[in-house]
Amino acid sequence: MEKPSKIAPAKGRLGVLLPGMGAVSTTFMAGVELVRKGKSQPVGSLTQMGTIRLGKRTDARSPLIKKFVPLAELTDLTFGGWDIFKDNAYQSAANAGVLNPQDLEKVKPFLSTIKPMKAAFDRDFVKLIDGPNIKKGKNKYELALQIKEDIADFRKTARASRLVTCWCGSTESFVKPEEVHSTPEKFVEAMQSNHPAIAPSMLYAWASVTSGVPYANGSPNLSVDIPAIQQLAHDHNVVICGKDFKTGQTLLKTVLAPAFKARMLGLEGWFSTNILGNRDGEVLEDPGSFKTKEESKLSVLEYILQPQLYPQLYGKMCHKVRINYYPPRGDNKEGWDNIDIFGWLGYPMQIKVDFLCRDSILAAPIVLDLVLFLDLAQRAGMHGIQEWLSFYFKSPMTAPGLYPEHDLFIQSMKLKNTLRWMKGEDLITHLGQEYYD
Ligand SMILES: NC(=O)c1ccc[n+]([C@@H]2O[C@H](COP(=O)([O-])OP(=O)(O)OC[C@H]3O[C@@H](n4cnc5c(N)ncnc54)[C@H](O)[C@@H]3O)[C@@H](O)[C@H]2O)c1
Repeated sequence: MEKPSKIAPAKGRLGVLLPGMGAVSTTFMAGVELVRKGKSQPVGSLTQMGTIRLGKRTDARSPLIKKFVPLAELTDLTFGGWDIFKDNAYQSAANAGVLNPQDLEKVKPFLSTIKPMKAAFDRDFVKLIDGPNIKKGKNKYELALQIKEDIADFRKTARASRLVTCWCGSTESFVKPEEVHSTPEKFVEAMQSNHPAIAPSMLYAWASVTSGVPYANGSPNLSVDIPAIQQLAHDHNVVICGKDFKTGQTLLKTVLAPAFKARMLGLEGWFSTNILGNRDGEVLEDPGSFKTKEESKLSVLEYILQPQLYPQLYGKMCHKVRINYYPPRGDNKEGWDNIDIFGWLGYPMQIKVDFLCRDSILAAPIVLDLVLFLDLAQRAGMHGIQEWLSFYFKSPMTAPGLYPEHDLFIQSMKLKNTLRWMKGEDLITHLGQEYYD
């Protein structure tokens, strides 16, 4: 891809469209408003708090990322979304129970104005929840056209000059890519004939991309990760990325596993288990939805540790992931990892990680960064899969035939080098010989 010659300025309002207005979405919107009001800090957001080194270490040039590239301002963000429940964003946030009532009260008037549009929903894909706020249509194609209308209406009423969609809806049942996902034409035919392999998330993806709206996929659903939508993203010059926000346990896995590999320490097994009690956890009780999540969580170690290159170290590793729905914990997930490693002469050691995290607190800044970076990439004239945003995903999308990079530090370097590349700055290789000449 050619280096962007110039990046269009972030003029006007940026509309953020959220299919799924549950815990993550409402924590994100409430957080943006609290930060805008000066009542909180955007902790966890690279676009808001991160800096980027430019030039040599001796140059002392490390501007804030938001000063280096022209990102939309938080004050220019405006929000819309869809959900199967009729609750407005305040009611939904109160129900999710992530933010405390004092914080929610400060943004109640703002959140109360955000009401979900009717969802395209299919219980075959999310078995354990159902709601009254659902679109009706003859077939899936009609539903997708209705979503396109929603997008056009929102653009008008929100007076947005640009839009970005970020899927924050539930995890759907596992779907394998099939022939109907292979081309835009077959995809449309499949929507018209109500083919069972067309999931609701794909309808939102199709509607966004064909409306020229960038799309990020926060769940492990295939959604934009099919050739038909990728072709459309190319044809419509739209940027896309996914899938599955990398927040808690997998974030730590993609930090620890690269350390073991860098030091040539072996891995016999990695057992990960979670308890969580939010709606996401409830949905994941269904084996179909869990299978989608499991695939996403399992792929990480294989790619980082490359057992085919290091059979003595990683050839026999056993990797298991469990998620248990346990209502008392709400959104406060506990993720345990038992890691059996071995060192010099094969002597075994163990590491235990107990991460008492807050799922949506970790996910909300990711939504913000993805929205701002996708909008930037779109204004820079980029299109298709944005692999430089792998940093944010458990299961990063890549060009066909390319294996994904999961190592968080490679992903971080890739992201920052992409920003340098966009602005015509030297890429940083960390070679550093020049300091010793
Ligand atoms: N740390 C995290 O929180 C995290 C990490 C990675 C991925 N995710 C993914 O992000 C997504 C959102 O997580 P959450 O905790 O907010 O879940 P949630 O259950 O609180 O919210 C999801 C919302 O999507 C709605 N929904 C389901 N199907 C829909 C459809 N077809 N159209 C519109 N709305 C629909 C549900 O009614 C629900 O309100 C999930 O897929 C989850 O797996 C979350």
